[in-house]
Amino acid sequence: MKKLQFVLIPAIILVIGGVAFSFLFEDKHVAKGRKVFSRYCTPCHGDSGRGDGYNAKNLDPHARDLTDGTEEYMAKLTNEEIYEVIEQGGYGVDLSAGMPTWGKHFSEEEIWSLVAFIRTLHSYDGPPVIFDKEKPYQTARPRTPPVQEAEFVSLFEEKVSDDDGRQEMIDQGKEVFVDRGCVACHQIDGEGGELGPDLSRVGFMLQPQFIYRWVRNPLSFKPHTRMPNLDLSDEEALAVTIYLSTLKGSSEEVQKAEPHRSGADPLQRRS
Ligand code: HEC
Ligand code: HEC
Repeated sequence: MKKLQFVLIPAIILVIGGVAFSFLFEDKHVAKGRKVFSRYCTPCHGDSGRGDGYNAKNLDPHARDLTDGTEEYMAKLTNEEIYEVIEQGGYGVDLSAGMPTWGKHFSEEEIWSLVAFIRTLHSYDGPPVIFDKEKPYQTARPRTPPVQEAEFVSLFEEKVSDDDGRQEMIDQGKEVFVDRGCVACHQIDGEGGELGPDLSRVGFMLQPQFIYRWVRNPLSFKPHTRMPNLDLSDEEALAVTIYLSTLKGSSEEVQKAEPHRSGADPLQRRS
């Protein structure tokens, strides 16, 4: 009996200690993935990855349950497939564009860390993500130069020559807003996601050149923004900008509100 206690008590201490301190001993890449996930992914995928974040109700199809709670799905994907969907977004791999594109936002190492963390959310016995010391993944985030106002002006002059051209752009912009997944994070007139600000009056609040520059490269304004660079083409960005610029809210609201007139960057006002 004494002998058994000798074994049992330390074993119990080990198990309890192991659970309590598992966060401390967590693999450094899994820990990094957990941190990135909790800032950028939980609004849709939920704190524990079940697909039940506060923005989930606005998504159709739903954000994937990464825990495989009801069906075996994630476990059947390869690490490379998970990497690819994070890098290219649903749009890039023929899934819903409600899953954003993160390849212009995170470093290679951050995306692989996300894959390593996601593997801890469901039961999986395939090959782990290898962080090879011989050939480490790119740790710097992709650097996209800030977009200048002149770029917007010349593109606008080139593509929008008359009212018909403008109307075409507005129609195309509406499609971009849905097809590229802006709608998963932003509401317009009560429809869409709540991760980002409501854009129903954005055409009144922000000048087109700022909308264009922001959409093309949000990180150049705010390195920690939750809005990724969705890698739009010049023309898609122009179209969505022109569409958003037409959204000014009701005329009554417009009279009450204070527009942004200063030449300073209006996006700075958000934290
Ligand atoms: C705006 C909401 C939203 C955010 C933010 C979001 N996701 Fe998703 N995600 C989705 C949706 C919606 C799907 C389901 C796509 C489908 O099945 O067509 C999905 C699917 C996935 C899948 C499954 C892909 C597959 O092959 O079926 C993975 C993995 C994933 N997301 C990872 C992430 C990670 C990592 C982040 C954070 C960097 C993230 N998601 C952020 C909405 C989101
Ligand atoms: C993953 C969610 C997400 C997606 C997808 C997304 N945004 Fe955003 N967006 C945000 C967040 C969050 C902010 C607030 C930025 C901040 O303060 O960091 C924002 C800010 C903006 C703003 C500035 C609004 C203001 O009042 O300051 C505009 C304009 C905008 N987004 C347009 C777009 C367009 C166009 C698309 C699609 C091409 C898009 N967004 C896709 C999350 C998203």
